[in-house]
Amino acid sequence: PRESGPVIFDGMVLPPFPPLVQDAKKRFEEIRNMEYRKDDIILAIYPKSGTHWVWEIVSMLLKQKAEYSKIPKELFFLEAMPDLSMVESMESPRAVNTHLPYRWLPKQHIENGGKIVHVVRNPKDVCVSLYHHMKNSKEIGEIKDFKTVYGMMFLNQKEKLTDGWFKYEKDFEEAEKNDTRGAIFTVHYESLKKNPIPEISRLANFLNINVKTEEIADIADKCSFKKLKLADETIKDHSGHGDFVDRDKQFVYRKGEIGDWRNHFTVAMNEQFDAIYKEEMKDSDIQTQFE
Ligand code: A3P
Repeated sequence: PRESGPVIFDGMVLPPFPPLVQDAKKRFEEIRNMEYRKDDIILAIYPKSGTHWVWEIVSMLLKQKAEYSKIPKELFFLEAMPDLSMVESMESPRAVNTHLPYRWLPKQHIENGGKIVHVVRNPKDVCVSLYHHMKNSKEIGEIKDFKTVYGMMFLNQKEKLTDGWFKYEKDFEEAEKNDTRGAIFTVHYESLKKNPIPEISRLANFLNINVKTEEIADIADKCSFKKLKLADETIKDHSGHGDFVDRDKQFVYRKGEIGDWRNHFTVAMNEQFDAIYKEEMKDSDIQTQFE
């Protein structure tokens, strides 16, 4: 485990992945200037909203086979991979993932209408998930207190985790509204959990991938929480991680449920959150699912 605390860049609190610790600006600019291939897929997702899960689904769809990738999602993680030139040696079609906000996504990709997969998870559960992640890993310093995580995501403090949930999602919503080419695909974590087959079919259509219904059902099954967790422990080769991910603690595949926030939000906190949410989201059409 590393001892370094969070990285602050462009008003954002970021995890201390080595490339960000060394020079966050450099890595951000490298990402923004990434060379584009027309079949690239970028998964741009707020932390703890289901990135691993959806990345695995996309990888299976690209293979047109319900077969786990041996290489873990982390190695295709733009702000954490040791050297961004690694993406150049990837075979097409490439599926990479990032937590960067919309304004920092690769410029050529945006200009050319490259495909973007976005996941929205209800922010209360994101906060709980993030809390457990931070509690168990030294990333972003050792934060043990739920209220601190809550503050970093929602409160009007100067520096928030990756812009804070509201700004991150509202910026994405606006980008989607302006997206005349249908380049952005959004799925709700909760819909994917409740109805995986239709949601995965919708994703396959978006990616122009023809997969049989049985194959989709197989992908949904193999990517269910329990099976994916087991695959992560047994099939994936985590040795290439270097030190940028702390694997001893099981904080990625933790619970995978909807509504765990009920076990963490006090009544007072919940009331405060609901009021903030109402104000922040008054002009938004995002249909967040808290249940
Ligand atoms: P919890 O901490 O609530 O369990 P990310 O991959 O973006 O870091 O998100 C991690 C969250 O997604 C964790 O939430 C994890 O359990 C959940 N998750 C991972 N795979 C899942 C699956 N197949 N179904 C439902 N949730 C899943």
